[in-house]
Amino acid sequence: MSAPSLFPQHIIARKRDGHRLTRAEVDAFVRGAVDQSWADYQLSALLMAIFLRGMTPEETADLTDAMMRSGTVADLRDIPGIKVDKHSTGGVGDKVSLLLAPLVAACGVPVPMISGRGLGHSGGTLDKLESIPGFRTDLSLARYHDLVRDLGCALIGQTRDLAPADRVLYSLRDVTATVECIPLICSSILSKKLAEGIDALVLDVKFGRGAFMKTRDDARRLAEALVRVGRAGGKQVRALLTAMDVPLGRAVGNAVEVAEAVAGLRGQGPADLMEVTFRLGEHMLVLGGVASDLTAARRKLEAAIADGSALARFRAIVAAQGGDPRTIDDPGRLPQARLQQSVPAPRSGVVVDVDAMEVALAALRLGAGRARASDSVDRAVGISGLVQPGERVQSGDALCLVHANDEAALRDAQERLLAAITLGEAAPAPQPLVADVLVA
Ligand code: URA
Repeated sequence: MSAPSLFPQHIIARKRDGHRLTRAEVDAFVRGAVDQSWADYQLSALLMAIFLRGMTPEETADLTDAMMRSGTVADLRDIPGIKVDKHSTGGVGDKVSLLLAPLVAACGVPVPMISGRGLGHSGGTLDKLESIPGFRTDLSLARYHDLVRDLGCALIGQTRDLAPADRVLYSLRDVTATVECIPLICSSILSKKLAEGIDALVLDVKFGRGAFMKTRDDARRLAEALVRVGRAGGKQVRALLTAMDVPLGRAVGNAVEVAEAVAGLRGQGPADLMEVTFRLGEHMLVLGGVASDLTAARRKLEAAIADGSALARFRAIVAAQGGDPRTIDDPGRLPQARLQQSVPAPRSGVVVDVDAMEVALAALRLGAGRARASDSVDRAVGISGLVQPGERVQSGDALCLVHANDEAALRDAQERLLAAITLGEAAPAPQPLVADVLVA
């Protein structure tokens, strides 16, 4: 039998007709994306065929592997220890990485973390970190390696040569209505994470109004695929399904989220933020081989907060990456917005709901996020002191503090925030933050 043709139109036709792509066909597609031997319309046509026809777990694993190998794969094998990272599918007020990476590193597990920027309603770790004066995230993979070796942690941005196929394919998906497709999401996330040189990965797959996946069932399907494909890539992977209907913590923005993360490292963080951080951290310590079970891991994490070692590690990382470490002890050194005004409660009552998506849109209006990838971000603006469901307020109390650099944006954000917060008579039943845990 002659070998199947690797012409783009033949590969597209095979997927269009519902066939399983061979590894050679997947490789041809990924190569074509990177060396531009496939036209954008051919890449887009195959993306749509995949969107409509799906991919088997094996095809998804092949696509992930090919995308990971489309660029440099970091090699951290000479660094002792099991290297474990965390990835979140994105939410509102999700500053967990800022606490978790130094915390887990302080407990003895190396954390190589390559993060992204915010887009749409969800914030990005890099934007938050870059609100620390001087902090550099555009480090080379060689420097990344040395930071993980010397400090047990690096917090950098995606370099150009890391999974370049994803950059090409994601930008096409964004404009061809092919983002919401589990095999494509899975290969996009995991190709970047597996190229970091990790041994294990803990995923925070969020569901709800403020998440990429709106329902728990969809989040579960994505989590199952991520765990399966990560496992096929030879990594230990666990996924936590976490609720994202209300913002995580009380701050949404960039500098304001750094300040809240630092408070968390001091043991003064909001309970919901600390709970998600600890639950993810427990699995990272177990996978990293420094705790025999989740209970022992929790004790270690709490001790690293209590004895100041997690905060000290964050200070050391900030200094090593060019940031001003004095910011850690004096958050007043973070960028400050010109205008700071509260949203007063229109009446007394109990906070029944805080709509994460509406809060995110208020933050976006202030300039804290990007509507498009090319937009710039104002790191000083955002929302702090946000009330949480179950809290009682008196008429005129602050529901939150808005940090703005523009009067019109301030007024719009105040209006949105007022509409986002529902006051009632009785506290809502508390929802579990972690709905499920999937272990490979
Ligand atoms: N995040 C990614 O990195 N890729 C996707 O496809 C979706 C979310």
